[in-house]
Amino acid sequence: PVVALVFGGRSSEHVVSCATAASVLRAIDRDKFDVLPIGITQQGGWVLMADDPEPLQLTASHTPSVQGSTEVLLSADPARRGLTVREPGEVPRELGDVDVVFPLLHGPFGEDGTIQGLFELSDTRYVGSGVSASAVMMDKHLMKVVFRAAGLPVGPYVLITDKEWQRDKGAAMDPVAALGWPVFVKPARAGSSFGVSRVDSQDGLEAAIEQARRFDPKVLVEAGIVGREVECGILEGRGSRPPRASQIGEITVTEGTHTFYDFESKYLDDSASLTCPADLPDDIAQQIREQSIRAFEAAGCEGLARVDWFYSPDGTLTLNEINTMPGFTPSSMYPRVWDAEGVDYASLITELIELALQ
Ligand code: DAL
Ligand code: MG
Repeated sequence: PVVALVFGGRSSEHVVSCATAASVLRAIDRDKFDVLPIGITQQGGWVLMADDPEPLQLTASHTPSVQGSTEVLLSADPARRGLTVREPGEVPRELGDVDVVFPLLHGPFGEDGTIQGLFELSDTRYVGSGVSASAVMMDKHLMKVVFRAAGLPVGPYVLITDKEWQRDKGAAMDPVAALGWPVFVKPARAGSSFGVSRVDSQDGLEAAIEQARRFDPKVLVEAGIVGREVECGILEGRGSRPPRASQIGEITVTEGTHTFYDFESKYLDDSASLTCPADLPDDIAQQIREQSIRAFEAAGCEGLARVDWFYSPDGTLTLNEINTMPGFTPSSMYPRVWDAEGVDYASLITELIELALQ
């Protein structure tokens, strides 16, 4: 089958997506799949990319981005379905049918249902969740609403909408004090900790909200949860089989350099370490697996998701969030937890593509 790997994109997680693409280009089974690498620039243009992982690597000294001039068009016309490419000044050239798209995209316009809508419109199969699950799970507020309705344990939070903020900042911030300190201020629809701040007192709150608003005018203030950060990978089952839950992974961030699992600790330095399987009591690990499957199903997710939890010293579990397209480099948590389960990185890519094709 022909697989279009789509990466980059318009969100702040463009660089993370490029890093993911670099890894997938290296590992995807070339005997099984013909690969078409398609980048989306930060402006939203689609371009045909070289089949070369090297320039897409993310390191402390190199920030990758999609550049190029060979425009790619995804046709919704059934008579000419598939991809067309156009070099500047040249006649368009058909690339032929694409059997499946693997959107290796994180954040808005990639993980939020918008591109999934385009695939639906053009009757193109794709890896991962559909339009509504992607849209709802991209929004940290709507996600909590769905989880709460499903009886899943979400933490306390305050929502600050754009209108509320414009009307009266003081009134919008008022309910936050009741959460206690610290709080975490987050753009509702972003990822990789972009725009996220930890705030330890009322003093820093307004600036943190303004910072989050640079990424999304809808902002969430969450009560800080004391607990270990543990994550579970979910993989859809084939046919009518139930979803599978992986081993549990744990993130530990070195004290002192970072006050939480922020962008630098996620991608650029060694301050965060991932352990899998996490050292947890069996019943807790089992509970995390079961509840993660429940969250995946309550959200209507497809393909894959990583479900993130806090495990507090008093034994309670708090559901932090779901990511419908989690970081996907070999050192990212999602592939790591499946590796611990005996599904190596290349096999995981194959499984996800075959799930989309079934
Ligand atoms: N949003 C990033 C990619 C993650 O969840 O891993
Ligand atoms: Mg996230």
